[in-house]
Amino acid sequence: MARLDVRETLHNISFPGHLHTQDSLNYAINFPFRDTDTLIATYPKSGTTWMQGIVTAIENRGDPHLSKTVPNWTRAPWLEQYYSPGVLEASHGHRIITTHLPYQLLANALQDSKAKIIYVIRNPRDVVVSYYYFHKMANFLPDPNSFDEFLDEFLEGKVSYGSWFDHVKGWTSQAGVLANFFCISYEEMWLDLQGCMKRISSFLECPLVDEELARSLKQCSFSSMRDNPMVNYTQVPNEIMDHSKGHFMRKGKIGDWRNTFTEVQIDHFDNVYSSQMQNCPITFLSE
Ligand code: A3P
Repeated sequence: MARLDVRETLHNISFPGHLHTQDSLNYAINFPFRDTDTLIATYPKSGTTWMQGIVTAIENRGDPHLSKTVPNWTRAPWLEQYYSPGVLEASHGHRIITTHLPYQLLANALQDSKAKIIYVIRNPRDVVVSYYYFHKMANFLPDPNSFDEFLDEFLEGKVSYGSWFDHVKGWTSQAGVLANFFCISYEEMWLDLQGCMKRISSFLECPLVDEELARSLKQCSFSSMRDNPMVNYTQVPNEIMDHSKGHFMRKGKIGDWRNTFTEVQIDHFDNVYSSQMQNCPITFLSE
């Protein structure tokens, strides 16, 4: 593993260097997807781990064995991270793959692919708050200083994994273009997990009977996931994630950004949002 303070960049986007190398990023952008793959794509802090849990639960028909025994990064590895070739090439048959890469970087790899893609979107106001607290505990990310400074960097697209706006505009532009593309929001899942689970299972062509659905819902509740060491990152050593500074499973709420943003920050955010998203009208259930 490389030093924690090293950064990798690709197309002007910066990535934490302890997980990414130029080779791993090149591997991802040239990845030979199989039509049987399921790809979970997200901007960080948008509900990635939650969706990994949901897809795992659905594909195992609510049987919790896999999600309780195998860490999420092994059963749904991040395509762009250095360990993924070993995991992916060893798995035959169906694979769940995760990515934080913007669509633009995967466009070639996904051209003509029939892989099933689930894009999870979350209110960027909650994303930036979650990301800020994550930067405080994750030693592989730069110290965020004040929320005000971090918010500016986020709005300017200078944070790790790049601009939220480019990410969302890139992936959502693929609805109806890529063969098997499904977009869902964190807010929809939060308000009606059962309804969302049914829609996701139908997209995955894995409809669940009532008992399987009930078991899947239980496994994917915030409290179950918060207490599951295979998904709550408590197994990651303190030098990488300082667990005394916060929890990965922090609050799991919608609209909590209101407790962090000042009125001035709300106005600034809204101005940047409307100018960046003028051709991509998206409203969130937690605004
Ligand atoms: P908060 O920091 O707002 O609590 P990601 O997995 O993309 O990094 O996203 C992490 C965010 O998803 C965190 O948000 C985390 O608490 C939340 N999350 C994870 N599992 C969840 C669940 N089962 N229900 C609701 N939120 C969940």
